[in-house]
Amino acid sequence: MKTRIYDLSAEPERQQEAVADAAAVLRGGGLVAFPTETVYGLGANALDRQAAQKIFAAKGRPQDNPLIVHIADPAWVDKLCRSVPQSAKLLMEQFWPGPLTLLLEKSALIPDAVTAGLSSVGIRFPSHPVARALLLAADVPVCAPSANRSGRPSPTTLADTVEDMAGRCDVILGGGSSEVGVESTVLDLTSVPPRILRPGGVTAEQLRAVLGEVVIDRAVTEPLREGEHPRSPGTKYRHYAPKAPVYIVDLPPEAALRLIARKVSEAPDTTGVLCYAGMEQELRGGIVRVYGKKGDQQSLAHGLFEALRSFDQTDVRVIYALCPASDGVGLAVANRLLRAAAFQKITE
Ligand code: TXA
Ligand code: MG
Repeated sequence: MKTRIYDLSAEPERQQEAVADAAAVLRGGGLVAFPTETVYGLGANALDRQAAQKIFAAKGRPQDNPLIVHIADPAWVDKLCRSVPQSAKLLMEQFWPGPLTLLLEKSALIPDAVTAGLSSVGIRFPSHPVARALLLAADVPVCAPSANRSGRPSPTTLADTVEDMAGRCDVILGGGSSEVGVESTVLDLTSVPPRILRPGGVTAEQLRAVLGEVVIDRAVTEPLREGEHPRSPGTKYRHYAPKAPVYIVDLPPEAALRLIARKVSEAPDTTGVLCYAGMEQELRGGIVRVYGKKGDQQSLAHGLFEALRSFDQTDVRVIYALCPASDGVGLAVANRLLRAAAFQKITE
């Protein structure tokens, strides 16, 4: 398949033409990769079963992993969902457009292929201007997972999206580097109290300020137990991972740096390090990737996936990662890193 690529941050004057092309593709049952404020998505018409099914093939995504439905007008929620609780309305007012996906009971409009047979559907109203323009022009809801090939870290730039999706979709729209850098928060409003299935750009603290009690699903920070049935099918799969194994170094700062420096000196050409700004000097010789500033959780979220993906272009055999505290967006960063590391930590 030949993919038409538009870099709208380099050529903003082409936006109208590009969006018209992409919207026509969506209406015709094709696939479009597009930027959002969280990560790039791979979209299809969410009301078209066959179009939605193409996404699973293009990504190599397991069939039982449901897709999020994107809209550019909250009026769609009443059509796509059976009932809309007051809590959803409050959250939509506060956080939409933005990085929050609400799980609600789906209406018959949404094909089972989109939700992998589940009775709930995730709805999200993204804020990225290119995503909004595309959704408005297409005039249909668009189901879109992250635009990575299954298992890889999500793409946050046009280059990363092209790397994974060129030849697998009809159009790719580029819109700069995704501001948030990790995927949306997935909040289940079908259970009481509301439950965060995946932490993201809208934080637990922000949700609690509106709703009061909000629980964080155990799978966010711990591996599934033998035989345990996940509430979010996505949590079953290895995810966000570079090819080399990742270990989270969970030690006090000085001890962590000492341990990593030792590992680097033992095998400089094959040891990867994911760390904070200002540590490069001490760890020089290793394959060092800075993903943000210590204590600045938003900068870490923004840089995480690009840094993880970049290791695959090196000879790295093992990666040691520093992981932030779980406050604010730090919970989302820690969740993605734990998944990338398959929950392997070095604690002594
Ligand atoms: O920020 C985002 O949400 C991005 C951009 C493109 O919008 N999309 C995204 O989609 O991250 P995806 O498919 O990569 O992740 C969706 C996650 C999966 O873990 C999936 O299992 C979960 O949300 N999910 C979707 N619908 C669900 C449902 N009805 N019940 C439980 N989990 C659901
Ligand atoms: Mg994904």
